[in-house]
Amino acid sequence: MIEIRPVEGIRGEINVPGDKSISHRAAILGALSKEGITVGNFSTGEDCETTLACLKALGCEITKPDDKTGAKDLRDPDHLRSGAAGFENKVTIKAPQGLREPKNILDAGNSGTTARLLLGLISGIPNLFAVINGDESLKGRPMGRVTGPLISMGAKIDGREFGEKLPLAVRGKKLNGGIHVLQVASAQVKTAILLAGLGAQGATTVIEPSPTRDHTEIMLEFLGVPVFKSDLKTTVYPTSLINGGSWTIPGDFSSAAFWIVAAAITRESELRIKNVNVNPTRTGLLKVLKRMGLAYSVEDESLSGGEKTATIAVKSSSLKGTKVMPEEIPSLIDELPLLAVAATQAEGITEVTGAQELRVKESDRIHTMAVGLKKMGAQIKETKDGWIIKGKTPLAGGKTKSYGDHRIAMALAVAGLAATSPLHLEGESCVRISYPSFFETLRKLTQNTEVREGIQP
Ligand code: S3P
Repeated sequence: MIEIRPVEGIRGEINVPGDKSISHRAAILGALSKEGITVGNFSTGEDCETTLACLKALGCEITKPDDKTGAKDLRDPDHLRSGAAGFENKVTIKAPQGLREPKNILDAGNSGTTARLLLGLISGIPNLFAVINGDESLKGRPMGRVTGPLISMGAKIDGREFGEKLPLAVRGKKLNGGIHVLQVASAQVKTAILLAGLGAQGATTVIEPSPTRDHTEIMLEFLGVPVFKSDLKTTVYPTSLINGGSWTIPGDFSSAAFWIVAAAITRESELRIKNVNVNPTRTGLLKVLKRMGLAYSVEDESLSGGEKTATIAVKSSSLKGTKVMPEEIPSLIDELPLLAVAATQAEGITEVTGAQELRVKESDRIHTMAVGLKKMGAQIKETKDGWIIKGKTPLAGGKTKSYGDHRIAMALAVAGLAATSPLHLEGESCVRISYPSFFETLRKLTQNTEVREGIQP
């Protein structure tokens, strides 16, 4: 349990940990590159550690030059703190002897990206056998959207509910490319198919219903693999060689987003977040908040590993309601819980539609967010594919919980900053999944003195 106290505002300049989506992809492409990939500012989140642990079990060499003791647990808070503060969390991933059969079941933990991307990777490596499992949340999430197209490429995959749910067993094979028309807009599905396509016969094309994050395409091109893209169509050809590379992963926009909304909805805020990834397939929240009246600027743009980075400066803002359309959803899918928080503090109605994918994330985020915010006094109505939120309503603190979902925990913590009384948040430790230093940064920005159970302030 943690206590979040209301604040007047948040002020200062911060960095956020390296991007989670880019870190997963760097690790997995490192496994396919001969010389290896070295990245700085690798995500400090547990999800990316999970990917590294699975790759290690598959025979990858993973080295962490910052890790002086060689034996340090990388989930240790001190290490995480240093990783989050700068560009230290350096990781080298390579598989000079190729991938080998793991002796144990691969545990993808809570991470959908790990499970889905590994399915794509392993499917296309002839004879490689692995079983992938996950935690209770991940075992409930749909995998058929990935196993279906992979099986149509010739992959041998079977598991619970005829390959719809984890645990899944995969026996790698020489696959055939083909054209895959996706039913859901999912970068995880797109990436799994493209990874399988790198070793397949002929061209592999993915056609998406609407654009999703394009980190895989950017990274492949950065590493010398041609990717042919037009509108919603992405094609790769078989390649035997992926170059190695070395670069710094930009900060995670999805982590920066918590502070953007926190600054916007509190009265006396002025915040700068440095080195944030501003890939337009990820920054839909900024676009929507701009319509709502966000006072912000994007400065000092540069490139790292082919990805745009920038400083985002935000001030307290008077927000008004807006309508978020289905085609915008993929560009802010992970930020929708936070948008719901912002909407409670915006004048008028905010309506989110076409966000049914939120129901199959780490929790049913349409429901968990509606319950959490309603408890705090928000006027929020859950619909089948989103919410209708009426603002502006004062939020009260009280007792609430994370449902074991990292983004729900952090979104509710942000709501607590704008509340009129302290918020007691249960199950806050799940923030380790994507942003282990979240509460430390909160303390730094607000001098907020939260109380952890059993620990005196
Ligand atoms: C991710 C894609 C999104 C996102 C997830 C990370 C990725 O999922 O919600 O947190 O790294 O590709 P979907 O692609 O399934 O929507």
